[in-house]
Amino acid sequence: MGIGREQVSLTNQQEELLREAEKAARKAYVPVSGFRVGAALKTAGGVYTGCNIENASLGLSMCAERVAIFKAVSAGERDFLKMIVVNVESNDAPPCGACRQVMAEFAPELEVTYRHGGGFSTRLVRELLPDAFGSRNGGA
Ligand code: THU
Repeated sequence: MGIGREQVSLTNQQEELLREAEKAARKAYVPVSGFRVGAALKTAGGVYTGCNIENASLGLSMCAERVAIFKAVSAGERDFLKMIVVNVESNDAPPCGACRQVMAEFAPELEVTYRHGGGFSTRLVRELLPDAFGSRNGGA
């Protein structure tokens, strides 16, 4: 059973994380798209934020969610509790497929809240990416 739901307003805890994600989005480096995304990941040990970082060599751009996850993992954090994703330019910020795969690597049960349809959607990573490819399928 999933927990996918639409929300108009956030809990106090989500609000706190939302503010961190919004702060991160304002640091985005987006000369190509002008689309600023921010992510905040709450782990057992703290909060890790990320923004998207683009490059003149287009394929090298990196999403906000993966920046936050990689910062957390590189700090020794793998116990992910909650993530929120926002953007500045629109009110739709569902995580891309590549980010969903990276989330699934570490935390299929992670709850992700993102701006969607004028409000927010909250879903588990395993709902965002059903039947995710993983180590049991021959991956590393
Ligand atoms: N982007 C993210 O940061 N996260 C996503 O999940 C979707 C896309 C960024 C990548 C690029 O810098 C910009 O949004 C436009 O695609």
